[in-house]
Amino acid sequence: MSATPIAAITGLGTAVPERVVTNADYEKYLDTSDQWIVERTGIRERRIAGPHESLAALCYTASTKAMAEAGVGPLDLDTIVLGTVSADRRLPATACDLQALLGARNAAAFDIAAACPGWIYSLAVAEGFIAAGRARKVLTLGAEKLSSITDMKDRGTAVLFGDGAGAAIVEPATGDGRGILSIVLGADGNLADLLYIPGGGSADPVSLKVVEERSHFIRMAGREVFKAAVLAMARASDEALAKAGVTIDEVDLMVPHQANLRIIEATAKHAGMPMSKVMVNIDRFGNTSAASIPLAIGQAVEEGRIKRGSVLLLVTFGAGFTWGSVVLRW
Ligand code: ACO
Repeated sequence: MSATPIAAITGLGTAVPERVVTNADYEKYLDTSDQWIVERTGIRERRIAGPHESLAALCYTASTKAMAEAGVGPLDLDTIVLGTVSADRRLPATACDLQALLGARNAAAFDIAAACPGWIYSLAVAEGFIAAGRARKVLTLGAEKLSSITDMKDRGTAVLFGDGAGAAIVEPATGDGRGILSIVLGADGNLADLLYIPGGGSADPVSLKVVEERSHFIRMAGREVFKAAVLAMARASDEALAKAGVTIDEVDLMVPHQANLRIIEATAKHAGMPMSKVMVNIDRFGNTSAASIPLAIGQAVEEGRIKRGSVLLLVTFGAGFTWGSVVLRW
C-alpha cells in the first residue's frame, strides 16, 4: 500500500426513524408485491420518518454519537458539511439548523447536493480542507428524508427509498496508517433527466400545476439508471483501488451504496470480491441515498465486521449522475 492518509475518521454515528414500513404495507395500496420488490431490489423494509421528524433532528442524533466516539465537543468543530438532497427547507442549509442544535458556534456549515454520493463528496471536502490547513475537526454527514420527496403513488420509486442519517468526524491523520487512502469523485450531468425532480426548483417554482402534476417528487428511469450505476460503480472501484495502491485482495470489506442488491452483486463481481466480504443491509433500510454508506459502515462496526485497521472500499452512484469511491483504513 503506497498512499499516506491526510485525514482520518475518528468517530461515526447513525440514526434512523423508528417507524418501519414493510413491503406488505405497499401491497395494500400500490400494484406491487413483496415478491417483486424482494426479487428486483432485495428490499424488505425501510425506515420512514413521521411528518414531525426533521432531517436536522436525525442529523443531531447521529452527530452526537459520532462526536462522543471521537471525543469532540460542539465548540471544537470548525466545519459541518452535510450531503443531502432532502433538506428540511430550501433555505437555509440543514447544516446550519444542525449547527444551531449542536451549539457548534465555531463551525462553518453548508450542505452538498450530490445525491447518493453526498457523504463521499463531504469526506472529500473534509480531506481537502484539512490538507489546506483550513480545518481540523470536520463533522461530515450523509442524511436524507427521502420520504419527503418520494411519490408514494409511483410504484417504480415509492418502494425503494428510506430515511436515515450517518455522521462522521474527520480529523488530520496521526501517522498510524489509519485514514483515507484515496477518493475518486465523478459526475455526468448529461444524464440528469434520468433521475431528477422536475418541479419546485427555481426553473419551475412551486405552483398548483407542479403539485397537481406531482412533479415535485423524484422521477426515475429505473432500467437506464441501473445500467449506468453498474458501469460507473465498477469503474470508480477500480480507480480508487489504483489510486490507493491497494489490491482487491487487501480489502477487508466492500461497502457499496445500497440502491439495489443486483447492482451490489454486479459491482462485487466486477471487482472480484466474494459477497461474504460485501456489506449488505438494503433489506432493512432500502435506498437512503447519502445516508446509505455510513449506515452500512455503522452496522458493520456493530457486527464486528469492521475493526480498527480494516481496509474498506466504499463505492456509490446517484442522481446527477454522480459517483464516488473511497479506499480507507479504519
Ligand atoms: N412492483 C411491481 N412491478 C413494478 C414495480 C413495483 N414496485 N416497479 C416497476 N414495476 C414493473 C414495471 O412497470 C415494469 O413493468 P412492464 O414490464 O409491464 O413495463 C416491470 O416491473 C419491470 O420494470 P423495470 O423498471 O424494467 O424493472 P427493473 O428490473 O429495472 O427494476 C428498479 C426496477 C428496481 C428501479 C431498478 O431498475 C433499479 O434499481 N434501478 C436503479 C436505481 C438506482 O440505483 N438509483 C440510483 C440512486 S437513487 C438517488 O440518487 C436518489
